[in-house]
Amino acid sequence: MLAGKHILLIVGGGIAAFKSLDLIRRLRERGATVTPVVTEAAEQFVTPLSVSALAGTRVYRDLFDLTDEAEMGHIQLSRVADLVVVAPATANLMARMAGGLADDLATTLLLATDTPVMIAPAMNVRMWEHAATRRNVAQLRADGVSVVGPEEGDMACGEYGPGRMAEPLDIVAAIAGHLTEGPLTGKHILVTSGPTHEPIDPVRYIANRSSGAQGTAIAQALVMRGASVTFVTGPADVPPPEGARVIRVTTALEMQKAVASALPADAAIFAAAVADWRMAQASDTKLKKSSGGVPVLEFAENPDILRETSALEKNRPGLVIGFAAETDDVLKNAAAKRLRKGCDWIVANDVSPGTGIMGGQENAVTVIDEAGVESWPRMDKNAVAGRLADRIVSALVAGS
Ligand code: C5P
Repeated sequence: MLAGKHILLIVGGGIAAFKSLDLIRRLRERGATVTPVVTEAAEQFVTPLSVSALAGTRVYRDLFDLTDEAEMGHIQLSRVADLVVVAPATANLMARMAGGLADDLATTLLLATDTPVMIAPAMNVRMWEHAATRRNVAQLRADGVSVVGPEEGDMACGEYGPGRMAEPLDIVAAIAGHLTEGPLTGKHILVTSGPTHEPIDPVRYIANRSSGAQGTAIAQALVMRGASVTFVTGPADVPPPEGARVIRVTTALEMQKAVASALPADAAIFAAAVADWRMAQASDTKLKKSSGGVPVLEFAENPDILRETSALEKNRPGLVIGFAAETDDVLKNAAAKRLRKGCDWIVANDVSPGTGIMGGQENAVTVIDEAGVESWPRMDKNAVAGRLADRIVSALVAGS
Protein backbone atom coordinates (compact mmCIF):
# COMPACT_ATOMS: atom_id res chain seq x y z
CA MET A 1 0.00 0.00 0.00
CA LEU A 2 2.98 2.30 0.57
CA ALA A 3 5.07 0.89 -2.27
CA GLY A 4 6.70 3.67 -4.25
CA LYS A 5 5.71 6.35 -1.72
CA HIS A 6 8.29 8.77 -0.39
CA ILE A 7 8.21 10.01 3.19
CA LEU A 8 10.32 12.89 4.50
CA LEU A 9 10.61 11.98 8.19
CA ILE A 10 11.60 14.71 10.62
CA VAL A 11 12.70 13.25 13.94
CA GLY A 12 12.25 15.70 16.82
CA GLY A 13 14.16 15.67 20.09
CA GLY A 14 12.17 13.63 22.58
CA ILE A 15 12.51 10.29 24.30
CA ALA A 16 10.02 8.90 21.75
CA ALA A 17 12.63 9.42 19.03
CA PHE A 18 13.68 5.80 19.60
CA LYS A 19 10.29 4.72 18.26
CA SER A 20 11.03 6.57 15.03
CA LEU A 21 13.67 3.95 14.27
CA ASP A 22 10.94 1.31 14.27
CA LEU A 23 8.73 3.64 12.22
CA ILE A 24 11.44 3.84 9.54
CA ARG A 25 11.72 0.05 9.50
CA ARG A 26 7.95 -0.43 9.22
CA LEU A 27 7.66 2.11 6.40
CA ARG A 28 10.47 0.52 4.43
CA GLU A 29 9.05 -2.98 4.96
CA ARG A 30 5.98 -1.69 3.14
CA GLY A 31 7.96 -0.42 0.20
CA ALA A 32 8.18 3.27 1.13
CA THR A 33 11.33 5.36 0.72
CA VAL A 34 12.25 7.35 3.82
CA THR A 35 14.43 10.46 3.76
CA PRO A 36 15.32 11.23 7.38
CA VAL A 37 16.02 14.60 8.94
CA VAL A 38 17.08 14.76 12.59
CA THR A 39 17.00 17.91 14.71
CA GLU A 40 19.93 18.79 16.91
CA ALA A 41 17.89 17.81 19.98
CA ALA A 42 16.95 14.46 18.38
CA GLU A 43 20.64 13.57 18.21
CA GLN A 44 20.60 13.45 22.02
CA PHE A 45 18.24 10.46 21.75
CA VAL A 46 19.15 8.64 18.52
CA THR A 47 22.37 8.67 16.56
CA PRO A 48 22.31 9.86 12.95
CA LEU A 49 24.19 6.68 12.12
CA SER A 50 21.39 4.40 13.34
CA VAL A 51 18.75 6.52 11.58
CA SER A 52 20.76 6.43 8.39
CA ALA A 53 21.39 2.68 8.64
CA LEU A 54 17.69 1.93 9.03
CA ALA A 55 16.63 4.35 6.32
CA GLY A 56 19.29 3.02 3.97
CA THR A 57 20.17 6.55 2.95
CA ARG A 58 21.96 9.63 4.24
CA VAL A 59 20.46 11.55 7.09
CA TYR A 60 20.08 15.34 6.90
CA ARG A 61 21.09 17.18 10.06
CA ASP A 62 21.40 20.89 9.56
CA LEU A 63 21.00 23.61 6.99
CA PHE A 64 24.68 23.45 6.19
CA ASP A 65 24.29 19.87 4.93
CA LEU A 66 22.56 21.58 2.06
CA THR A 67 25.07 24.27 1.20
CA ASP A 68 26.01 22.17 -1.74
CA GLU A 69 22.88 23.20 -3.58
CA ALA A 70 24.00 21.16 -6.55
CA GLU A 71 23.27 18.05 -4.50
CA MET A 72 19.92 18.95 -2.96
CA GLY A 73 18.77 22.35 -1.74
CA HIS A 74 16.32 22.71 1.13
CA ILE A 75 13.49 23.72 -1.18
CA GLN A 76 14.00 20.61 -3.25
CA LEU A 77 14.40 18.43 -0.15
CA SER A 78 11.13 19.77 1.24
CA ARG A 79 9.31 18.75 -1.91
CA VAL A 80 10.70 15.35 -2.79
CA ALA A 81 8.20 13.52 -0.64
CA ASP A 82 4.55 12.53 -0.90
CA LEU A 83 4.17 13.36 2.79
CA VAL A 84 6.23 15.08 5.47
CA VAL A 85 5.95 13.30 8.82
CA VAL A 86 7.19 14.78 12.09
CA ALA A 87 7.67 12.03 14.68
CA PRO A 88 8.09 12.73 17.48
CA ALA A 89 6.74 16.26 17.31
CA THR A 90 7.84 17.86 20.56
CA ALA A 91 6.01 20.77 22.20
CA ASN A 92 8.85 23.06 21.18
CA LEU A 93 8.91 21.90 17.56
CA MET A 94 5.13 22.27 17.31
CA ALA A 95 5.33 25.80 18.75
CA ARG A 96 7.97 26.73 16.18
CA MET A 97 5.88 25.19 13.38
CA ALA A 98 2.75 27.03 14.53
CA GLY A 99 4.70 30.29 14.68
CA GLY A 100 6.22 29.81 11.24
CA LEU A 101 9.84 29.88 12.44
CA ALA A 102 12.63 28.66 10.21
CA ASP A 103 15.62 28.55 12.52
CA ASP A 104 16.96 25.10 11.72
CA LEU A 105 16.74 22.58 8.90
CA ALA A 106 13.54 20.90 10.17
CA THR A 107 11.52 24.10 10.56
CA THR A 108 12.91 25.51 7.31
CA LEU A 109 11.76 22.42 5.44
CA LEU A 110 8.36 22.60 7.12
CA LEU A 111 7.96 26.22 6.09
CA ALA A 112 9.18 25.64 2.55
CA THR A 113 7.20 22.51 1.78
CA ASP A 114 4.13 22.34 -0.43
CA THR A 115 3.58 18.71 0.61
CA PRO A 116 0.97 17.63 3.21
CA VAL A 117 2.36 17.41 6.74
CA MET A 118 1.49 14.94 9.49
CA ILE A 119 2.72 15.18 13.08
CA ALA A 120 2.88 12.60 15.87
CA PRO A 121 3.11 14.65 19.07
CA ALA A 122 4.98 13.30 22.09
CA MET A 123 5.49 15.14 25.34
CA ASN A 124 4.80 15.18 29.04
CA VAL A 125 1.09 15.22 29.86
CA ARG A 126 1.20 18.71 31.47
CA MET A 127 2.95 20.09 28.40
CA TRP A 128 0.32 18.50 26.13
CA GLU A 129 -2.49 19.97 28.21
CA HIS A 130 -0.92 23.42 28.54
CA ALA A 131 -2.95 26.22 27.00
CA ALA A 132 -0.04 27.18 24.75
CA THR A 133 0.20 23.66 23.28
CA ARG A 134 -3.60 23.50 22.87
CA ARG A 135 -3.38 26.76 20.89
CA ASN A 136 -0.51 25.47 18.79
CA VAL A 137 -2.28 22.19 17.98
CA ALA A 138 -5.42 24.09 16.99
CA GLN A 139 -3.35 26.42 14.79
CA LEU A 140 -1.53 23.52 13.12
CA ARG A 141 -4.81 21.73 12.43
CA ALA A 142 -6.23 24.94 10.98
CA ASP A 143 -3.14 25.14 8.76
CA GLY A 144 -4.00 21.69 7.38
CA VAL A 145 -1.55 19.61 9.39
CA SER A 146 -2.90 16.19 10.37
CA VAL A 147 -2.27 14.97 13.88
CA VAL A 148 -1.83 11.31 14.91
CA GLY A 149 -2.15 10.62 18.63
CA PRO A 150 -0.85 11.19 21.21
CA GLU A 151 -1.96 8.19 23.23
CA GLU A 152 -2.77 7.91 26.86
CA GLY A 153 -0.52 5.77 29.00
CA ASP A 154 2.47 5.55 31.31
CA MET A 155 5.09 8.03 30.27
CA ALA A 156 8.86 7.83 30.39
CA CYS A 157 8.79 10.65 32.97
CA GLY A 158 6.71 8.51 35.34
CA GLU A 159 3.41 10.37 34.88
CA TYR A 160 0.25 8.99 33.32
CA GLY A 161 -1.99 10.58 30.73
CA PRO A 162 -2.13 11.71 27.11
CA GLY A 163 1.23 12.61 25.62
CA ARG A 164 2.76 9.30 24.56
CA MET A 165 3.64 9.15 20.87
CA ALA A 166 1.32 6.96 18.77
CA GLU A 167 2.74 3.49 18.12
CA PRO A 168 4.76 3.17 14.89
CA LEU A 169 2.17 0.89 13.27
CA ASP A 170 -0.60 3.39 14.02
CA ILE A 171 1.49 6.12 12.41
CA VAL A 172 2.04 3.83 9.40
CA ALA A 173 -1.74 3.31 9.22
CA ALA A 174 -2.37 7.04 9.35
CA ILE A 175 0.22 7.60 6.63
CA ALA A 176 -1.27 4.89 4.41
CA GLY A 177 -4.74 6.30 5.00
CA HIS A 178 -3.51 9.76 4.10
CA LEU A 179 -1.80 8.66 0.91
CA THR A 180 -4.61 6.46 -0.37
CA GLU A 181 -6.95 8.71 -2.27
CA GLY A 182 -10.43 7.56 -3.14
CA PRO A 183 -14.08 8.41 -2.88
CA LEU A 184 -13.98 7.90 0.91
CA THR A 185 -11.03 10.24 1.51
CA GLY A 186 -11.85 12.36 4.55
CA LYS A 187 -14.35 9.84 5.94
CA HIS A 188 -13.72 8.00 9.18
CA ILE A 189 -15.21 4.51 9.32
CA LEU A 190 -15.26 2.14 12.28
CA VAL A 191 -15.24 -1.62 11.67
CA THR A 192 -15.55 -4.29 14.37
CA SER A 193 -14.36 -7.76 13.49
CA GLY A 194 -13.44 -11.21 14.77
CA PRO A 195 -14.76 -13.18 17.72
CA THR A 196 -14.59 -12.18 21.35
CA HIS A 197 -13.13 -14.43 24.03
CA GLU A 198 -14.89 -14.44 27.36
CA PRO A 199 -12.76 -15.89 30.15
CA ILE A 200 -14.09 -18.65 32.39
CA ASP A 201 -10.89 -18.79 34.41
CA PRO A 202 -7.28 -17.83 33.63
CA VAL A 203 -6.86 -20.66 31.11
CA ARG A 204 -10.31 -21.28 29.65
CA TYR A 205 -12.62 -19.09 27.64
CA ILE A 206 -15.83 -19.09 25.63
CA ALA A 207 -15.35 -18.27 21.97
CA ASN A 208 -16.95 -18.77 18.56
CA ARG A 209 -15.78 -19.81 15.09
CA SER A 210 -15.47 -16.34 13.55
CA SER A 211 -12.13 -15.98 11.75
CA GLY A 212 -12.39 -12.21 11.26
CA ALA A 213 -11.95 -12.72 7.49
CA GLN A 214 -15.09 -10.86 6.40
CA GLY A 215 -14.58 -7.87 8.72
CA THR A 216 -10.92 -7.61 7.70
CA ALA A 217 -11.80 -7.71 4.01
CA ILE A 218 -14.40 -4.97 4.49
CA ALA A 219 -11.95 -2.75 6.40
CA GLN A 220 -9.33 -3.32 3.68
CA ALA A 221 -11.79 -2.43 0.93
CA LEU A 222 -12.68 0.80 2.76
CA VAL A 223 -9.00 1.74 3.23
CA MET A 224 -8.46 1.16 -0.51
CA ARG A 225 -11.27 3.62 -1.22
CA GLY A 226 -9.50 6.27 0.82
CA ALA A 227 -11.32 5.97 4.16
CA SER A 228 -9.56 6.42 7.44
CA VAL A 229 -10.51 3.16 9.16
CA THR A 230 -10.47 2.28 12.85
CA PHE A 231 -10.49 -1.51 13.09
CA VAL A 232 -11.55 -2.93 16.46
CA THR A 233 -10.78 -6.62 16.44
CA GLY A 234 -11.13 -9.57 18.77
CA PRO A 235 -8.62 -12.43 18.59
CA ALA A 236 -8.94 -13.22 14.87
CA ASP A 237 -7.26 -15.89 12.72
CA VAL A 238 -6.32 -13.52 9.92
CA PRO A 239 -3.90 -10.56 10.12
CA PRO A 240 -5.49 -7.11 10.39
CA PRO A 241 -5.89 -4.93 7.28
CA GLU A 242 -3.00 -2.78 6.10
CA GLY A 243 -3.49 0.91 6.55
CA ALA A 244 -6.14 0.81 9.27
CA ARG A 245 -5.74 1.96 12.86
CA VAL A 246 -6.01 -1.33 14.74
CA ILE A 247 -7.38 -1.62 18.28
CA ARG A 248 -7.02 -5.15 19.63
CA VAL A 249 -9.45 -6.37 22.26
CA THR A 250 -10.33 -9.72 23.79
CA THR A 251 -13.74 -9.44 25.46
CA ALA A 252 -17.06 -7.83 24.55
CA LEU A 253 -16.65 -5.29 27.35
CA GLU A 254 -13.27 -4.25 25.94
CA MET A 255 -14.80 -4.01 22.47
CA GLN A 256 -17.58 -1.78 23.80
CA LYS A 257 -14.99 0.61 25.30
CA ALA A 258 -12.87 0.64 22.14
CA VAL A 259 -15.89 1.41 19.97
CA ALA A 260 -16.92 4.31 22.22
CA SER A 261 -13.38 5.71 22.13
CA ALA A 262 -13.28 5.54 18.31
CA LEU A 263 -16.36 7.71 17.75
CA PRO A 264 -17.28 9.98 16.05
CA ALA A 265 -17.35 8.18 12.72
CA ASP A 266 -19.16 8.70 9.44
CA ALA A 267 -20.10 5.03 9.33
CA ALA A 268 -19.77 2.01 11.61
CA ILE A 269 -19.81 -1.61 10.48
CA PHE A 270 -20.32 -4.24 13.14
CA ALA A 271 -18.92 -7.40 11.59
CA ALA A 272 -17.65 -8.85 14.89
CA ALA A 273 -19.16 -12.02 16.27
CA VAL A 274 -19.57 -10.71 19.80
CA ALA A 275 -20.32 -13.26 22.50
CA ASP A 276 -23.82 -12.70 23.79
CA TRP A 277 -22.86 -13.84 27.26
CA ARG A 278 -19.86 -13.70 29.57
CA MET A 279 -19.30 -15.38 32.89
CA ALA A 280 -21.13 -13.55 35.66
CA GLN A 281 -17.92 -13.92 37.66
CA ALA A 282 -14.83 -15.28 35.91
CA SER A 283 -12.65 -17.22 38.33
CA ASP A 284 -9.22 -15.78 39.25
CA THR A 285 -7.86 -19.29 39.66
CA LYS A 286 -8.17 -22.34 37.43
CA LEU A 287 -11.34 -24.31 38.12
CA LYS A 288 -10.47 -27.74 39.48
CA LYS A 289 -12.09 -31.11 38.95
CA SER A 290 -13.57 -31.89 42.30
CA SER A 291 -15.71 -34.49 43.93
CA GLY A 292 -18.53 -31.92 43.81
CA GLY A 293 -19.23 -32.87 40.16
CA VAL A 294 -19.23 -30.65 37.07
CA PRO A 295 -19.15 -26.87 37.59
CA VAL A 296 -22.24 -24.83 36.87
CA LEU A 297 -21.38 -21.76 34.81
CA GLU A 298 -23.45 -18.69 35.53
CA PHE A 299 -23.67 -16.17 32.70
CA ALA A 300 -24.29 -12.44 32.46
CA GLU A 301 -25.47 -10.72 29.30
CA ASN A 302 -22.91 -8.72 27.32
CA PRO A 303 -23.75 -5.21 26.14
CA ASP A 304 -25.15 -5.12 22.61
CA ILE A 305 -22.63 -2.76 21.04
CA LEU A 306 -24.49 -2.46 17.75
CA ARG A 307 -27.78 -1.61 19.43
CA GLU A 308 -26.15 0.87 21.80
CA THR A 309 -24.33 2.64 18.98
CA SER A 310 -27.48 2.78 16.83
CA ALA A 311 -29.35 4.39 19.73
CA LEU A 312 -26.79 7.12 20.44
CA GLU A 313 -28.27 10.60 20.42
CA LYS A 314 -24.93 12.31 20.15
CA ASN A 315 -22.23 10.86 17.91
CA ARG A 316 -24.42 8.27 16.16
CA PRO A 317 -22.56 7.44 12.95
CA GLY A 318 -24.54 8.53 9.89
CA LEU A 319 -24.64 4.95 8.63
CA VAL A 320 -24.73 1.97 11.01
CA ILE A 321 -24.44 -1.53 9.55
CA GLY A 322 -25.02 -4.75 11.47
CA PHE A 323 -24.50 -8.37 10.53
CA ALA A 324 -26.91 -11.19 11.14
CA ALA A 325 -25.40 -14.63 11.15
CA GLU A 326 -28.37 -16.96 11.15
CA THR A 327 -28.87 -20.68 10.82
CA ASP A 328 -32.59 -20.65 10.04
CA ASP A 329 -35.25 -18.34 8.64
CA VAL A 330 -32.40 -16.01 7.65
CA LEU A 331 -34.39 -13.23 5.97
CA LYS A 332 -37.21 -13.06 8.49
CA ASN A 333 -34.82 -13.07 11.46
CA ALA A 334 -32.49 -10.55 9.85
CA ALA A 335 -35.26 -8.10 8.98
CA ALA A 336 -36.53 -8.29 12.55
CA LYS A 337 -32.98 -7.79 13.81
CA ARG A 338 -32.55 -4.61 11.77
CA LEU A 339 -35.54 -3.08 13.52
CA ARG A 340 -34.63 -4.41 16.96
CA LYS A 341 -31.06 -3.13 16.76
CA GLY A 342 -31.98 0.21 15.20
CA CYS A 343 -29.26 -0.04 12.55
CA ASP A 344 -29.64 1.20 8.97
CA TRP A 345 -28.56 -1.89 7.07
CA ILE A 346 -28.30 -5.53 8.06
CA VAL A 347 -26.00 -7.85 6.13
CA ALA A 348 -27.51 -11.28 6.60
CA ASN A 349 -25.83 -14.60 5.99
CA ASP A 350 -26.61 -18.24 6.55
CA VAL A 351 -23.95 -19.78 8.75
CA SER A 352 -25.47 -23.27 8.99
CA PRO A 353 -22.67 -25.87 9.25
CA GLY A 354 -23.27 -27.17 5.69
CA THR A 355 -22.58 -23.76 4.11
CA GLY A 356 -18.91 -23.57 5.18
CA ILE A 357 -19.32 -19.80 5.53
CA MET A 358 -18.23 -19.35 9.15
CA GLY A 359 -14.44 -19.53 8.96
CA GLY A 360 -14.51 -20.18 5.19
CA GLN A 361 -13.42 -18.22 2.09
CA GLU A 362 -16.84 -17.45 0.64
CA ASN A 363 -19.99 -15.75 1.71
CA ALA A 364 -23.53 -15.38 0.37
CA VAL A 365 -25.21 -12.32 1.79
CA THR A 366 -28.46 -10.44 1.65
CA VAL A 367 -28.44 -6.73 2.40
CA ILE A 368 -31.59 -5.43 4.03
CA ASP A 369 -32.22 -1.72 4.35
CA GLU A 370 -35.21 0.56 4.61
CA ALA A 371 -35.79 0.28 0.87
CA GLY A 372 -35.90 -3.50 0.76
CA VAL A 373 -33.94 -6.69 0.31
CA GLU A 374 -30.98 -7.29 -2.03
CA SER A 375 -29.58 -10.81 -2.33
CA TRP A 376 -26.07 -11.26 -3.70
CA PRO A 377 -24.80 -14.50 -5.21
CA ARG A 378 -22.28 -16.58 -3.29
CA MET A 379 -18.82 -15.10 -3.83
CA ASP A 380 -15.38 -14.71 -2.29
CA LYS A 381 -15.38 -12.69 0.97
CA ASN A 382 -13.14 -10.07 -0.68
CA ALA A 383 -15.71 -9.62 -3.44
CA VAL A 384 -18.48 -9.24 -0.86
CA ALA A 385 -16.32 -6.63 0.88
CA GLY A 386 -15.71 -4.69 -2.34
CA ARG A 387 -19.39 -4.66 -3.24
CA LEU A 388 -20.37 -3.58 0.26
CA ALA A 389 -17.70 -0.85 0.25
CA ASP A 390 -19.06 0.47 -3.07
CA ARG A 391 -22.56 0.52 -1.60
CA ILE A 392 -21.18 2.48 1.38
CA VAL A 393 -19.54 4.96 -1.02
CA SER A 394 -22.92 5.51 -2.70
CA ALA A 395 -24.57 6.09 0.67
CA LEU A 396 -21.93 8.43 2.09
CA VAL A 397 -20.77 10.40 -0.91
CA ALA A 398 -23.28 12.63 -2.60
CA GLY A 399 -23.49 12.23 -6.34
CA SER A 400 -21.69 8.89 -6.48
O1 C5P B 1 -27.85 -10.41 18.08
P1 C5P B 1 -26.78 -10.87 17.15
O2 C5P B 1 -25.53 -11.32 17.85
O3 C5P B 1 -27.24 -11.86 16.13
O4 C5P B 1 -26.42 -9.56 16.32
C1 C5P B 1 -25.43 -9.55 15.37
C2 C5P B 1 -24.99 -8.14 15.11
O5 C5P B 1 -24.90 -7.39 16.32
C3 C5P B 1 -23.59 -8.10 14.53
O6 C5P B 1 -23.50 -6.93 13.72
C4 C5P B 1 -22.72 -7.99 15.77
O7 C5P B 1 -21.46 -7.40 15.47
C5 C5P B 1 -23.55 -7.09 16.65
N1 C5P B 1 -23.42 -7.37 18.09
C6 C5P B 1 -22.84 -6.43 18.90
N2 C5P B 1 -22.76 -6.65 20.27
C7 C5P B 1 -23.25 -7.80 20.80
C8 C5P B 1 -23.84 -8.77 19.97
C9 C5P B 1 -23.90 -8.52 18.61
O8 C5P B 1 -22.39 -5.39 18.43
N3 C5P B 1 -23.15 -8.01 22.10
